[in-house]
Amino acid sequence: MKHWDQFLAPYKLAVEELKVKLKGMRAQFELDTTYSPIEFVTGRVKPIASILDKANLKRIPLNRLEQEMQDIAGLRMMCQFVDDIIKVVELLRNRNDFEIVEERDYISHEKSSGYRSYHVVISYPVQTINGEKKILAEIQIRTLAMNFWATVEHSLNYKYRGQFPEDIKMRLQRAAEAAFRLDEEMSQIRGEIQDAQAFFSRKKEQQEGEK
Ligand code: GTP
Ligand code: MG
Repeated sequence: MKHWDQFLAPYKLAVEELKVKLKGMRAQFELDTTYSPIEFVTGRVKPIASILDKANLKRIPLNRLEQEMQDIAGLRMMCQFVDDIIKVVELLRNRNDFEIVEERDYISHEKSSGYRSYHVVISYPVQTINGEKKILAEIQIRTLAMNFWATVEHSLNYKYRGQFPEDIKMRLQRAAEAAFRLDEEMSQIRGEIQDAQAFFSRKKEQQEGEK
């Protein structure tokens, strides 16, 4: 539908631009230091069917989507360690190519589902042929373990349409606890892991130098 294409065009542009910018942060870390707090970055525009479902569920009138649906443009930044998340948030706060309009900390306050992540909602200016347009985008910052859990839970949610059978709900909660413990264990051996990664990246550089 032409109308949807027009509506989504600035969101597509924003996601593409933000992917380049956030991946660029990772690339800079790789040049400057041996360790990057950013493991990888993904982005997507919410599919029309999901926009309609969510608008319906949250009673958002379609002419209020721009103001009230914050995640039509969505980015994710994955980190190895929980401590990296706040570093990444700090980096986002220090940028001046967008403004942060809201932060939601589901790490200190995990959701009842077991979901953990740090959400930053930004107002991002895209340049269009009709001038500048500010759109909302949601950046989710989480560890690899949090991402693994959220991805699995999301597909199950889709399958059961949010109505989990009791045993699945219990298993998901246990899996969330296991993911939490994994993050804790990883934090405790962080020093060891980083030494190893630094060693291997030096070794790789040497080998490349010898080629
Ligand atoms: P949404 O209607 O989901 O946007 O909720 P909200 O407006 O209260 O915002 P919130 O920050 O809670 O959630 C926004 C996004 O976070 C969702 O679109 C999901 O990507 C993610 N999310 C939130 N809760 C969960 C959850 O329980 N499980 C999973 N897998 N993802 C979640
Ligand atoms: Mg939301």
